[in-house]
Amino acid sequence: MNSKEYFSLKFENDELIFLDQTKLPNEEIYCKTNGYERVAEAIEKLEVRGAPLIGIAAAYALALSIKDSKKKKVDIIFTKAYERLKNTRPTAVNLFYALNEVKKVFDKNKTKDNLYKIILDKAIEIHKDDINKCDSIGKNGLEIFPKKSVVLTHCNTGKLATGGDGTAFNVIKQAYKNKLIDHVYTDETRPLLQGSRLTAFELEKERIPFSVLTDSSASSLFSSSKIDLVIVGADRIAANGDTANKIGTYNLAVLCYYHNKPFYIAAPSTTIDRNITSGEEIKIEFRKSEELLELNGNKFINKKFETYTPAFDVTPSKLIMGIITEKKVYQYPYKFSNE
Ligand code: MRU
Repeated sequence: MNSKEYFSLKFENDELIFLDQTKLPNEEIYCKTNGYERVAEAIEKLEVRGAPLIGIAAAYALALSIKDSKKKKVDIIFTKAYERLKNTRPTAVNLFYALNEVKKVFDKNKTKDNLYKIILDKAIEIHKDDINKCDSIGKNGLEIFPKKSVVLTHCNTGKLATGGDGTAFNVIKQAYKNKLIDHVYTDETRPLLQGSRLTAFELEKERIPFSVLTDSSASSLFSSSKIDLVIVGADRIAANGDTANKIGTYNLAVLCYYHNKPFYIAAPSTTIDRNITSGEEIKIEFRKSEELLELNGNKFINKKFETYTPAFDVTPSKLIMGIITEKKVYQYPYKFSNE
């Protein structure tokens, strides 16, 4: 299936259709499935990725898991799917948020005849809620631009990472529309290149002027005073504002601190984990060595070197000038409202 107007995922005729992000930007290939196991695999392989999007995909996968099951077995089947999906990726809290929201609905309604519809409606609600949150984040983010700015971002936070128009990416998109952005720099985001493959793809679709740079070139941009602010997304935000995001984010926050530039996070409130007090409690995912030593299956390093492969790092809250959510722009010291 090919499409001009791309989408990250949609649920249609009892199937989940998702864009295989590992093939972007060269090929836009959509995959269809009616089974939760395929969704779990897609999340593990980063065919479907980005904190809010993996939560939405997992919610739909739970609906698929019980679609044809007999009443007597539905509990066992749901639990198996829930456990499988829960173990796909450990860092983004949106996954656990969505799974638990669906589980609550399942536990209340498991004896009902129309259980599949009830669970599917909940997944649709989680999806719609994220669309709305992205819209509000885009609007709220406008206040961080005191003047027309040059912006640096990292990883991917657009339509490809969320149910809607994105988090940090939507702030960039709305600011550009409002003539508050001149140019965007997007880090390539080694090793899986979410910046040079995915953010560049989305910036091009939106016709926003941009340049791609290697992650290690960021410091040179700062020293030549080319950057006004940095804005990125988040995978999990602790109650004190410490934020886990794609590996390399912390480097940018330190650069901002040294060069006296503001560093912002944009994320829906579903990315805030109120159960943990600080970033020390965030479980960081480590990826396979092959992702570092190979490129598209091409072993460009023909040795089995030991590797260090965290997928995320944690930026201490004191380095974060503001956290933009659908509610408002929070400022340090962070105290998030409870609703
Ligand atoms: O490993 P990924 O590609 O899922 O990591 C994604 C990120 O780190 C994003 O910045 C984050 O999920 C925010 S998405 C709106």
